[in-house]
Amino acid sequence: MGIIITNGKIVSSKGILEKDIRIVGEKIVEIGLDISKAEDEIIDAKGSYVMPGAIDVHTHFDADACGIVADSFYTGTKAAISGGTTTIIDFAEQVKDSTLREALNQWNEKTKDNTYTDYGYHMTISDWNKETEKEMEYMVKEGITSFKMFFAYKDLQVDDRAIYEALKKSKELGTLISFHCENGNLIDKLREEAILNGNTEPIFHMETRPPSLEREAISRLTSIAEIVDTPVYIVHLSSKEGYKEIERAKERGQKIIVETCPQYLLLNKDYYLPKGKDSFEGAKYVMSPPLRDMESNEVLWNGIKLGEIDVVATDHCAFNYKVQKELGIDDFTKIPNGAPGVENRFKLIYTYGVRKNKITIEKLVEVLSENPAKIFGLYPNKGVIKEGSDADIVIFNPEYKSIINAEEQVQNVDYNLYEGFTQYGRFEYIFLRGQLIVEKEKIVNSTPTGKYQKRDKGNIL
Ligand code: URP
Ligand code: ZN
Ligand code: ZN
Repeated sequence: MGIIITNGKIVSSKGILEKDIRIVGEKIVEIGLDISKAEDEIIDAKGSYVMPGAIDVHTHFDADACGIVADSFYTGTKAAISGGTTTIIDFAEQVKDSTLREALNQWNEKTKDNTYTDYGYHMTISDWNKETEKEMEYMVKEGITSFKMFFAYKDLQVDDRAIYEALKKSKELGTLISFHCENGNLIDKLREEAILNGNTEPIFHMETRPPSLEREAISRLTSIAEIVDTPVYIVHLSSKEGYKEIERAKERGQKIIVETCPQYLLLNKDYYLPKGKDSFEGAKYVMSPPLRDMESNEVLWNGIKLGEIDVVATDHCAFNYKVQKELGIDDFTKIPNGAPGVENRFKLIYTYGVRKNKITIEKLVEVLSENPAKIFGLYPNKGVIKEGSDADIVIFNPEYKSIINAEEQVQNVDYNLYEGFTQYGRFEYIFLRGQLIVEKEKIVNSTPTGKYQKRDKGNIL
């Protein structure tokens, strides 16, 4: 017996198709008209878009602060799939004096039978040495074809020599390295100065991470990548200054793949000084890079429209406001760094991107599903509605309206960055590899059935 999805508008980056989809088991087996068989179950998608499940290639589930985890893989992926995301790629983190294999084992333990979405890992490299270099080969065999390095965070950042050597190795392997671009040494100095001057409130998180330091790290990265002659992926681009630096590298002919996140499109630095509220509420927005000016919001939207920004991910890294963010009540440098958002990305990009005519519905599918799948080696199993692809399908009715409210969210965290925002759309049905997981916005399959995705090498767009 199969499932037929009929009457919907199938969206891809290329356009809209009004055809039926037949699912058998985990796969889409046919797309066409009059394809149903007598025994098939019929799903009527009239009035809805039928889209490939969204892919969030930037999550940090199970992030711990003071021994507490807000979103584990279990709750985080439940929130993800409730919000239209059927696959995530999380960052497995090598810490200093440990190996990539240790990080992989740790992440495998966290995810085992514990995810509602399909999942994979990028491997974060924080301790660069000969052994790490060798381990990159092993990671590729395990289906980890992307890595991440930091220019920021004193405990994680690597130096230019390590970046150069890792890029050379990555080029040899045909893998991709993503980079957190902020100058960590200078940020460290600015933070020290701020605290010495008694500037302890959350707003100084933003003041001590100016956009020039994002621009500087991007300039350094693209200069190193130019020597190695290899593409790089920039995570969570936040500023117009950084965007311009990327344009300069592209004008030189370099291949730079760019990601941004809803918070850098929809929020701005005024959130660090919330009007009529306790100034510590700014701690909710302590994430890195910090929120920027409204001009940056518009530059980034335009970058998506022009195809200069390839991916919108979330950087979901949840900490509760109470107890966890409060660790920094007297010193902003102690506020856990990160913010939630995995549940909200799809409807926010639809509401503030598509409905406001900043981007088309096709572009939404491109940056939420298709490009992430292509870049990170999941395509064409994922990221597209095609015969032979996994039946990861979101049936999205655009007409419903709701207000974001932390009390009603699935994310296991006590606030929402977008509290009070209007959003449009309702997830009528969400399938993961042919299994119905969400119906009318409710999880209907209570067992987490996400599978590890051994990824191929990606296609650089
Ligand atoms: O604030 C953030 N983004 N926390 C997570 C770690 C990172 O930089 O991606
Ligand atoms: Zn980062
Ligand atoms: Zn991140």
